[in-house]
Amino acid sequence: MKRRDFIIKSASAGFFLSASRIFPAMTNTQNPQVVNALRFPPVLQPGENLVLRTTNVEVWPGTTTEVIALNNSYPSPTIIVNRGDNFSVNFENQHSEEATIHWHGLLVPEMMDGHPKDAVMPGGSYTYTFPVYQRAGTYFYHSHAHNLTAKHVYKGFAGFFIVKDEDEIPLGLPSGEFDVPLLIQDRRSVNQPQFTYQPNMMDVMIGYLGNLPLVNGTPDAFFDVQKTLYRFRILNGSNARVYKLGLSDNRNFWLIATDSGLKDHPAQINNFFLAPGERADILIDFSNYTVGESVVLKSLPFSGTGGTYPQGLEMNVLTFNIIGNGNSNGVVPDNLSTIEYYDINDIRRTRNFTLTRIMTGSNMHRINGLTFDINRIDEIIIKDELEEWKFINNTNEYHPIHIHGVMFQVYSRNGNTSLPPNDKGWKDTVLVNPNETVSVLVKFVDYSGTYLLHCHNLEHEDDGMMINIRIDNPTDVNDEITSPGNFELYQNYPNPFNPTTKISYRLNTSSGKVSLSIYDVNGTLIEKIFEGQQSAGEYSFVWNASDYSSGTYFLKMNVDGIFKTIKLIYLK
Ligand code: C2O
Ligand code: CU
Ligand code: CU
Repeated sequence: MKRRDFIIKSASAGFFLSASRIFPAMTNTQNPQVVNALRFPPVLQPGENLVLRTTNVEVWPGTTTEVIALNNSYPSPTIIVNRGDNFSVNFENQHSEEATIHWHGLLVPEMMDGHPKDAVMPGGSYTYTFPVYQRAGTYFYHSHAHNLTAKHVYKGFAGFFIVKDEDEIPLGLPSGEFDVPLLIQDRRSVNQPQFTYQPNMMDVMIGYLGNLPLVNGTPDAFFDVQKTLYRFRILNGSNARVYKLGLSDNRNFWLIATDSGLKDHPAQINNFFLAPGERADILIDFSNYTVGESVVLKSLPFSGTGGTYPQGLEMNVLTFNIIGNGNSNGVVPDNLSTIEYYDINDIRRTRNFTLTRIMTGSNMHRINGLTFDINRIDEIIIKDELEEWKFINNTNEYHPIHIHGVMFQVYSRNGNTSLPPNDKGWKDTVLVNPNETVSVLVKFVDYSGTYLLHCHNLEHEDDGMMINIRIDNPTDVNDEITSPGNFELYQNYPNPFNPTTKISYRLNTSSGKVSLSIYDVNGTLIEKIFEGQQSAGEYSFVWNASDYSSGTYFLKMNVDGIFKTIKLIYLK
C-alpha cells in the first residue's frame, strides 16, 4: 500500500472514529452535571456539495435550535484533505441572504478566498476549487458575507478544514480516535435553546459574548478518554470570546501546533490564550490519572472588559472522564518540524496599523482611521518581499488580527521579542491585547490579488474593522484592478516605456472629485498628476518618468472614493 493510500484510508476509517457516537443515549455517571457526550460533525465526503439553509437541529437534548447550517449540520461538516490534493466543492446557497465560504488559513487564489465582493446570492451556487499544497494543520472555514459574517458564524456556519501530510506520519503523534477536533463557541444561556443574534451597541463594542461554552456544538459536554496520550485540535470559533485554556488540576500538557501547523518543538505549558480565529493543537497525557477520575478543560479566569458576560469569565469547557486503559501508542516527539524564522535584516518595509474605537453609533472600530469599503484597496503589497507590520492597539479591547493569503510570524509584543509559546510558529491570526503593540513579519509568497486584513472579533469585523490589501507581483503586467465605478481607466501605452507613456481614462458622468497619483513599488506617493472636479468625457495625458529610476510604478485613480490602478513599467 502506498503511503498516500494509507493516509486516505485512515482519514475515512480511523480518523474521528468517535464520529459514530453522534447523539449517543449515554448517561454520564461520573459527572451528572455534564450530561452530553461530545459530538462530532460528519466528515464531508468527496463529491458531496455544501448546501446552506436555515434548519433546526438538536443542540440541547429534547429541544431544537434554529441554525444557518451547511448540510443540516451544526457545526458544519469536517473537511479532511491531504496535502497535494485538489480540493473542490460546490456551494449551494439556499439561504435567504448572500454568503461566501472563506477557507481560513488556507492559501488559495483570490477568486476562491470567499471575499465578500464575491458573494453567492440566495439561490446561487459557486464551485470553490484550489490545490492544497500547504503544511498539515488545523484550519477552519466559515461565512464571510458582507456585514453578515458574525451572524452566520454565530448561527452555525463554521467548520474544521484539516490538512494532513506525510511529514506528520513518522512523528508518531496520537491518531485515529486519539486525534480529536474541538471547536469552542460560546452562547448565551438566557436565549437557550436559541442562538438569538441581536447585538446591541455594547455587543458591537466588545463583541457578542456568552456564558455557555459549546464544544463541537455540544453544551455541558463530556468526553470519555483512555489512560493515554491524546491530540486535541482546538479551534476558537467564537465570535468574540478569548479563552485562557488550562486543566482544572493545573497539570501540564504540550503545545504542538499553532494556526498553520506544527511548531518546531513541543512546549510544555499549563495554560494558553486562544482568541477567535486561532487554533492550537495540544497533547494531553491521561496516563497518570486513575480510571474513574475526571479532569476539566477550563477557561481560566482573567480580568477583561465586558458587560454581562465579560472576557475572562471562568468556564468549564469540556470534562474528560478517564474510563479505561486503552493505549494510543502516541508519543511526544522532541522535534516536530523545521521552521525557518525570518531575518529582520531582510525587512523591506514597515507598515503601521492603528486600531481605534470612536464612540459613535456605527462603524466604531477602525484600522488607520478607515472603516471597511468593499471596493477600496487600502494597501498595495509587493509579493515575495518581507515586511514588518505593527498592530498598534489604542483601545482597551482584544483585537485578534487575521490576515488572508499568508502565514506570518509574530516578532514582538510591546517591543519584547521573548514571546509565549503560542506566538512561536506559523500564524494567520494574532491576538493584540488591550493597549498593546504587536509586530509580525509577513511575506506573501503565494498568490497576487485582493485579500483581507481584519479583526476576528466578528462584531468588530462587521462593524468595519477590516481593510482590503492588494498583493501585487511586479513581474505580471496589465493586471488592472477592476472594481465598479462610473469610470474606466485604460492600460497605459506603450508599456513598458522609456521615458514617456500615455495614460487615458473616461468619466461616464461628471465627478465630485477625481485624483490621479503615481506611486512607486513601496507604495510611496511620488507624483500627483491631477486633483479636482471633471465633467464626463475622455481624458489623456503623457507621463514622463525620466526623473525616476527604472522599475514598476502604479498609477492610482480615485473617483469619489472608488480606486482603480494600473501598473506602469519603466525600462531605461
Ligand atoms: Cu476567519 Cu477573514 O476570516
Ligand atoms: Cu481567513
Ligand atoms: Cu477587534
